[in-house]
Amino acid sequence: MSKETLTITDNRTGKTYEVAIKDGTIKAMDLRQITTGEDDFGIMCYDPAFTNTASCKSKITFIDGDKGILRYRGYPIEQLAEKSTYLETAYLILNGELPTQSQLNDWTHTITNHTMTHENIKKFIDGFRYDAHPMGMLISVVGALSTFYPAAKNINDAKVRRQETERLIAKMPTLAAFCYRHIMGFPFAYPDNDLSYTGNFLNMLFKMTELKYKSNPVLERALDVLFILHADHEQNCSTNAMRSVGSSQVDPYSAVAAAVAALYGPLHGGANEAVLRMLTEIGSKHNIPDFIEKVKGGSGRLMGFGHRVYKNYDPRARIIKETADQVFEVTGRNPLLDIALELEKIALEDEYFIKRKLYPNVDFYSGLIYQAMGFPVDMFPVLFAIPRTVGWLAQWEEMMQDSEQKIARPRQIYLGYDERDYVAMESRS
Ligand code: COA
Repeated sequence: MSKETLTITDNRTGKTYEVAIKDGTIKAMDLRQITTGEDDFGIMCYDPAFTNTASCKSKITFIDGDKGILRYRGYPIEQLAEKSTYLETAYLILNGELPTQSQLNDWTHTITNHTMTHENIKKFIDGFRYDAHPMGMLISVVGALSTFYPAAKNINDAKVRRQETERLIAKMPTLAAFCYRHIMGFPFAYPDNDLSYTGNFLNMLFKMTELKYKSNPVLERALDVLFILHADHEQNCSTNAMRSVGSSQVDPYSAVAAAVAALYGPLHGGANEAVLRMLTEIGSKHNIPDFIEKVKGGSGRLMGFGHRVYKNYDPRARIIKETADQVFEVTGRNPLLDIALELEKIALEDEYFIKRKLYPNVDFYSGLIYQAMGFPVDMFPVLFAIPRTVGWLAQWEEMMQDSEQKIARPRQIYLGYDERDYVAMESRS
């Protein structure tokens, strides 16, 4: 019978070590015993960007990047996008199981009744400049919420964690909508508890003088589907930020603010914004070949393409493409769609992209939908942050219950100077 171990021979010393293999991994700490002598610290793994390092065990999201599979708690993303709602999916992600009808009713009621924020939040938002980027505002305002809920510090109390989780999921759309209304110069619109999660969000964004806002059901459902697709994605950059910052035992508002900051970057949640800017810059199908050549020459990237994990078509991109057709039937076709379709066709046939397994990711088409629905480009990453909040919090909760987790603190390979004496100013050259 084969043994679940790895035998390592250190050719520096000729010594052999046997380390256990579990779940297809070895423990990095098992390498520490491999030394050349007493003064040697022991072998460490060097893995900048964690490309081959598992930082946790998780039961939430499964991705098979080569096959293009994404599942939340075992359920394929395609089935959830077709049959579930965002709030039901959020419940599933947090609790591990789909809710019964009464559990879903209670959950919906709880989230709906936590959508209001303290009035001082409005004053805080008013302090931003008219052209402030909404992600910059969101980072600050989520962080600021920790000061409104000082009890959130009690992160070792499961009840407190649960309450802050509910508050965050409920308030993110309100905060996001307030940031939007500030940029637009519109008065803030309060939550309407009669509406669905996405229906209420659209209400807080777009309500003008009407007494009751009524969203288009196709657009409301499209946004709900987009929210389902963005709800979690295992150990991505922002989730890693959430876990890493959360591992210091800070309150969840501060940790979520860090996660939102990580999401802001153009290589992560800012990519959908970058795609739209790229398509606008390309301007016409005729300019695509030149643009592709520039990318291949190393000048810029084809935004919305490529993924650290997916080396196949991102399953979310496929669903978004279908959703886009439904949205465009209501809003009219986004003229940038033709450029995007042609760009995808050319890239998928090009040796450069084939060789590197670069396929469209979730961000390639989502921006086109958001733009058609009337969102300014700056708001795109915010529309990612709202649904990802449940993923961040579920991962944080999992971390809090994992006895193997400690404060996240990587090692380094020090390549700087050895000890040297301070040089007086007059002696410096
Ligand atoms: N356009 C052109 N080339 C790309 C590319 C893109 N979008 N993404 C990756 N590549 C190339 C890299 O230049 C590199 O080529 P090389 O081997 O000749 O140097 C190779 O593909 C591998 O890229 P690498 O940066 O090592 O992959 P990664 O796993 O670190 O990066 C992303 C993953 C997502 C950051 C990267 O694909 C990217 O920047 N995509 C665009 C931004 C985006 O859409 N982000 C949203 C992710 S959901």
